[in-house]
Amino acid sequence: MRFNSIAALFSVVGYASAIGSLGFDLGVQRNSDSACKTSDDYISDFETISGYTDTVRVYASSDCYTLANIIPALKEKNFKLFLGVWPTDDSHFASEKAALSAYLPTIDASYILGITVGSEALYRADLSASDLASRIDEVRELVHAIDGYSNVPVGTVDSWNVLVDGANADVISSSDIVFANAFSYWQGQTMANSSHSFVDDIMQALQVIQSTKGSTDISFWIGETGWPTSGGSYESSVPSVDNAAQFWQESICGIRAWGINTLVFEAFDESWKPVTSGVSGVETHWGVWTDDSTSPKFSLSCEFD
Ligand SMILES: *[C@@H]1O[C@H](CO)[C@@H](O)[C@H](O)[C@H]1NC(C)=O
Repeated sequence: MRFNSIAALFSVVGYASAIGSLGFDLGVQRNSDSACKTSDDYISDFETISGYTDTVRVYASSDCYTLANIIPALKEKNFKLFLGVWPTDDSHFASEKAALSAYLPTIDASYILGITVGSEALYRADLSASDLASRIDEVRELVHAIDGYSNVPVGTVDSWNVLVDGANADVISSSDIVFANAFSYWQGQTMANSSHSFVDDIMQALQVIQSTKGSTDISFWIGETGWPTSGGSYESSVPSVDNAAQFWQESICGIRAWGINTLVFEAFDESWKPVTSGVSGVETHWGVWTDDSTSPKFSLSCEFD
């Protein structure tokens, strides 16, 4: 399906109310020594981004003691968390569930905005739709049994093109929240078309989620989007600070103006990551902040701010 303007798109799905919320995806290893972030490291991260949001998302619970270490920082800075759970393999999933059971009871449920089981697990074909759906249900049962947690939403995050595939409808049906990832950069788009492409992708995902749920009253977030500030080009996509700034204004401010909640990939450059051969060396340059500055690389203000 093709749309000629954001306005045309949103009249289709009946959106356009409050400004969409903003949050950031957050890495859990330090750049200085690649060690797992401590509670103090998270506090310092939150201080840097607190002028823009109080919401972050992490990808796993037991890896890097993430949940244990981030809880004191959430309390100290009054930040809110979307918490990831890694659903494969079985022993990893068991460790994740053990971390939920051990640490969620130590923090009020109001700090936990939602729990996402799997991050692009379908896209990577880590497990089948029905297996992921049953793991989402299993995590919901565990979490809702914790005192105070009976209303915390549980769902998943996946790439927009996977969510629009009818073969994955079970996963949407099993999810209280569904997050769609969309990167115009990885679609090789020019800057001129990057916003059009982004909005088109997100709207396709949202429409399928709404029709699968049979309701427009669903909790939907963009789970990851952004533009790299350095590294090699991918087809027609060129990383640069200027292009990241333009993508922010047109796509991120633009879609939030239409009421869509957005998590940006990612808060900080992750220079600890090995520079892989693979695609163009952009993996260490997705941060809105570098790893050692408290000012963002470009202006984050939107017209509506
Ligand atoms: C722009 O993006 C749309 C939506 O993804 C796509 O269908 C179209 O081919 C793109 N146009 C160009 C010129 O790349």
